[in-house]
Amino acid sequence: MAATSLLSQLHGFGTLSDMALAMSESSVPALFEDDPARAEDFTLEAAGLKLDYSKQLLDREALAALMALARDAKLDKAATALLSGTEVNNTEGRPALHSLLRATNAPGLEDKLAEVESSRARMREWADRLNTGKHLGFSDAVITDVVNIGIGGSDLGPRLVTEALRPFQGSVACHYVANVDPADIQDTLLGLNPETTLFIVCSKSFRTEETLTNSLVAREWMLNAGATEADLAKHFLAITTNLEAATEFGIDAANCLPMWDWVGGRYSVWSAVGLSCAIAVGWDNFEQFLAGGAAMDQHFAEAPLEQNMPVLLSLLEVWYCNFFGAGNHVILPYDNALQRFPDFLQQLTMESNGKGVGKSGQPVDYATGPVLWGSAGTMGQHSFHQLLHQGTELCPTDFILPLTTHTGMTEQHRRLVANCLAQSRTMLVGRTLEDAHASLLNRGVDEARAEELAPHLAMPGNRPNSVITMQALTPATLGALIALYEHRTYCSGVMWGINPFDQWGVELGKEIGVQILGIMSGEDTDSATDPATDRLIREWALAQE
Ligand code: F6P
Repeated sequence: MAATSLLSQLHGFGTLSDMALAMSESSVPALFEDDPARAEDFTLEAAGLKLDYSKQLLDREALAALMALARDAKLDKAATALLSGTEVNNTEGRPALHSLLRATNAPGLEDKLAEVESSRARMREWADRLNTGKHLGFSDAVITDVVNIGIGGSDLGPRLVTEALRPFQGSVACHYVANVDPADIQDTLLGLNPETTLFIVCSKSFRTEETLTNSLVAREWMLNAGATEADLAKHFLAITTNLEAATEFGIDAANCLPMWDWVGGRYSVWSAVGLSCAIAVGWDNFEQFLAGGAAMDQHFAEAPLEQNMPVLLSLLEVWYCNFFGAGNHVILPYDNALQRFPDFLQQLTMESNGKGVGKSGQPVDYATGPVLWGSAGTMGQHSFHQLLHQGTELCPTDFILPLTTHTGMTEQHRRLVANCLAQSRTMLVGRTLEDAHASLLNRGVDEARAEELAPHLAMPGNRPNSVITMQALTPATLGALIALYEHRTYCSGVMWGINPFDQWGVELGKEIGVQILGIMSGEDTDSATDPATDRLIREWALAQE
């Protein structure tokens, strides 16, 4: 296997380290003063989204150097490689073709596209059938509720889309069960009627413990309510690559929709994995969602590096992660409907790029991605924003801001927008010691106390952030937003020389989980763990007495 270049070996890495050092001592407000075109020029538009990155700790020279680094990492060839089906997932020997799931034509990939189109037709049938009240349960009652049972990529994407597009909700309510904690399924089923509920067992592998355990509970619930084994076909669908396991589990083969090994779980919301959200918002809206993603694919494929939004977001990630040592990236959607977006992005980015070796297996000598976290604005303002403004951690932040609301409450929404802009600006300008001092005197604090307190009120500012706006959160803009971060994640993987499409690191925990369950249930009397785990198992056993 040809060795992939590691980031630290790229021409220009050293220069950028020096530039970052100089930039960390510069002032972004001063950059605005020196460069009147900055606010306008440091923006990009694509697929209904506008990115303002003018508040980033970056001048034109550093930007050009980052672009040169990207060229050296062959990032200019990366979009074509991904979109044309090159084997970018080298450790599993396959392409990563999530973009095909939202495509309407794909030269060279016609066979795969035909399979995708046939799956889309079946999704549409189910979405229409349920939304027109034509699908009946075992007692001939109309199905009113759908429960998606899945975890990770088989849960986070469809759950996000369903919640984010609530204003587009059709007649069927969709619910999500993911956790193996019995409280999750118990709470969900409490509010539902078996006669009017349909389950979608969503699992690419059909081997995931959480999903299979919860599906058995759902099955029992249905049988206990009077459904016969034969009736289960009216109440269970499966989305999987593993048809054999799904049918063995008892799901009618006719009710199984396909997944493909060339789509990663965390990139799969566009496939039948998204059936629950397609049902929730209706097929036409789901098609708009696909079209939004496809518009971002086109931008990614065609825009030059300097104008390419996923590329730019990725280079900012690399800039802070590798040249400033930032270990965090914060996502703040100022839209309640997007409150799950940070959760979704955690899997997308950290399962993709949380890797310690390059594509050829050589250890990397630099960070490969920050910890991503965040929450819907304005909630964080009253909890963790203190750290953003005055803490010692550098936390580059993306604000996401739909400019209009679906609620009709425009005046209240204005407050939300004002808060978003205020937080972004506060991160930029901070407050000098002199201003802090003066403001204390203005409040009537005496001179000595003002002197004492001023350092506590002063804020450094210069805290990098971007603002991504859109006219409104619609199926199309949501599709574009998700595809934007998918491509950003891939671009960062290319820059770091790693494979963003495998996830070997989650396997060992699953294996050890099976072993520990065997010990706890008494089936495995031979294995021992470590002294600390053994003690905790004994503690658990005592608690059961
Ligand atoms: O545990 C991680 C993971 O393997 C994810 O990559 C995946 O999205 C999730 O589990 C669920 O997997 P499946 O769809 O096969 O049930």
